[in-house]
Amino acid sequence: MAKKRFPSTFVPTPLFLLLLLLLLPRGEAPPIEGPPSYASFAFDAGAFPVESDYDYIVVGGGTAGCPLAATLSEGGRRVLVLERGGAPSEFPSLASPEGFLPTLVDTDAPDSPAHPFSSEDGAVPNARGRVLGGSSAINAGFYSRAHPSWFSLPRGPSWDMALVNDSYDWVERAITFRPVLRSWQSAVRDGLLEANVTPYNGFTVHHLAGTKIGATTFDSSGRRHSAADLLAFANPDRIRVALRATVDRVLLNPVPPGSRRRNQQSSAAIGVLYRDRLGRHHHAMVRPGGEVILCAGALGSPQLLLLSGVGPRPYLSSWGIPVAANLPDVGQHVYDNPRNGISIIPSIPLDHSLIQVVGIPTGEDKDAADASFLEAASNIVPFFSPPRSVFLHNPSSPLYVTVATLMEKVPGPASVGSLRLASLDARDNPIVRFNYFSNPEDLDRCVVGLRRVGDVLESRSMQEFRSVVGWLPWRGRGDFRYVGPALPANRSDRAAMEEFCRRTVATIWHYHGGCVAGKVVDGDYRVIGVGALRVVDGSTFAISPGTNPQATLMMMGRYVGRKMLAERKEKSHRRRAPWPPRRHM
Ligand SMILES: Cc1cc2nc3c(=O)[nH]c(=O)nc-3n(C[C@H](O)[C@H](O)[C@H](O)COP(=O)(O)OP(=O)(O)OC[C@H]3O[C@@H](n4cnc5c(N)ncnc54)[C@H](O)[C@@H]3O)c2cc1C
Ligand SMILES: *[C@@H]1O[C@H](CO)[C@@H](O)[C@H](O)[C@H]1NC(C)=O
Ligand SMILES: *[C@@H]1O[C@H](CO)[C@@H](O)[C@H](O)[C@H]1NC(C)=O
Repeated sequence: MAKKRFPSTFVPTPLFLLLLLLLLPRGEAPPIEGPPSYASFAFDAGAFPVESDYDYIVVGGGTAGCPLAATLSEGGRRVLVLERGGAPSEFPSLASPEGFLPTLVDTDAPDSPAHPFSSEDGAVPNARGRVLGGSSAINAGFYSRAHPSWFSLPRGPSWDMALVNDSYDWVERAITFRPVLRSWQSAVRDGLLEANVTPYNGFTVHHLAGTKIGATTFDSSGRRHSAADLLAFANPDRIRVALRATVDRVLLNPVPPGSRRRNQQSSAAIGVLYRDRLGRHHHAMVRPGGEVILCAGALGSPQLLLLSGVGPRPYLSSWGIPVAANLPDVGQHVYDNPRNGISIIPSIPLDHSLIQVVGIPTGEDKDAADASFLEAASNIVPFFSPPRSVFLHNPSSPLYVTVATLMEKVPGPASVGSLRLASLDARDNPIVRFNYFSNPEDLDRCVVGLRRVGDVLESRSMQEFRSVVGWLPWRGRGDFRYVGPALPANRSDRAAMEEFCRRTVATIWHYHGGCVAGKVVDGDYRVIGVGALRVVDGSTFAISPGTNPQATLMMMGRYVGRKMLAERKEKSHRRRAPWPPRRHM
């Protein structure tokens, strides 16, 4: 019966799954809580003056931007956050795991919290946050730290690991929780162990080889927490958040050669130009000693640099954008981790779940596995399984199905793409191209990962999800009921496996790069050659951290904020210190 509706030629694009789940009944509203912490200092951009000045202007109130802004406000200086989206509380679907897929599908409104885009190659549907909290307010909530080796990548920034640990702790105390595993997640955990993704590490935020339960930003009542909640740590008298404030560009002034300091800066940020919902322009200007920090994400930050005249000179000139700084790598080194997997309609009812369990297999070269993050190999990630059944519209015979998925993510990845402007309007998505599987290394990893998915499917733990065949007492288990293609029957057939990888490629939404550290920003996240301007978000990553990046992005907001406060303190101390030093009595 079901076969009819899911012909084997049907390709399970993520879009199909999303459409399928659109029909999902909305989850019950989570318990009402008091107003969010930021309610006393977040307002519509229309209520802000047309010109005003601040010490720190954070562009993008996202995953890294919120913790950064909250931390900077602790220093007692004036902080402004400019966020193009609204507050998460305006969108009920963001509050619960059941709203995850509806949010990704409901994108017709110009202010939808999930802003859809798709890569030029293969038209793989993708999304980015357009709401306070950024993509952490629309994501699957899985929380897991980076492997320590991620912090010592060649040409990467040099990290103060004690401050890194402290910053992760700060995030975790506020917004992470231990999930409760139900049927599908438990079965996948057991299946991973049967497939030798060992040892079992239980519940941990650390990136450890084997199988583990990660943390989640959904609390025990199912309510989402996001980076926006980290604004609770802000000093409310020192911070303002402008909602529906779209930054058009950073205002840069040439630096006279005589006063150039660090990195031979040719220009410096003096403020930003932003637009409110009615299209009215505002200037937010930087006070002496202050800075603009771009936290607009892997698409937004490189786009804003280009629109501000920071990028490859010939490219900027082709758009007629005056060049403030020639930085050839802006918009280059853009990556997206491919996701591949299978989806099934299980034979028994399942509870709804987003990602809770991950497998981190050691690489084929076991000795090298822990030495380098790149050996973390493919992650097998159990995904959603709708809470109730999904209703498929069919006038004659309604069909209820639940879809469970098992997927793997290629770490790294090695394939590299780029982005460029689609227009001079900051509200438009830039054009992005990820070149999935253009590097054969990624294809190798996909094949290894999918073989592992196959092993999990064949495990005893997965038996109960196979379809029932025959009649009592001769009942047995048949194959899975797939939504879309099954894995190739012969998993040793490399060509067939590679073909499956290419044909079913989807995104796990961990795209990154565009302002990569060491190329566009220096070790302190300052834009190379430009004063008073930094980029702090996923655009600085050459490799996505851990199994999933949000933990490290929030950590990074806190971390850079602490660094900046310490730097500023030291500087003003130096400036203020009387010479010769005054003696204490
Ligand atoms: C559907 C989905 C599921 C995911 N699931 C997980 C998961 O389970 N676990 C995990 O760790 N990661 C997950 N991720 C990835 C993770 O959420 C992102 O990598 C991360 O949130 C990106 O953080 P960021 O700070 O770089 O950018 P963002 O959080 O996207 O922040 C950028 C902010 O800048 C704003 N902005 C952009 N341009 C402008 C402008 N011109 N003016 C003003 N504001 C602007 C945006 O509105 C946004 O709020 C998921 C992502 C998605 C989309
Ligand atoms: C940071 O935390 C990791 C993981 O717990 C630990 O191995 C490491 O020693 C810590 N580093 C410092 C400097 O505290
Ligand atoms: C599976 O594929 C491998 C490699 O192509 C081939 O050698 C083997 O004969 C195939 N096995 C079957 C059962 O078809």
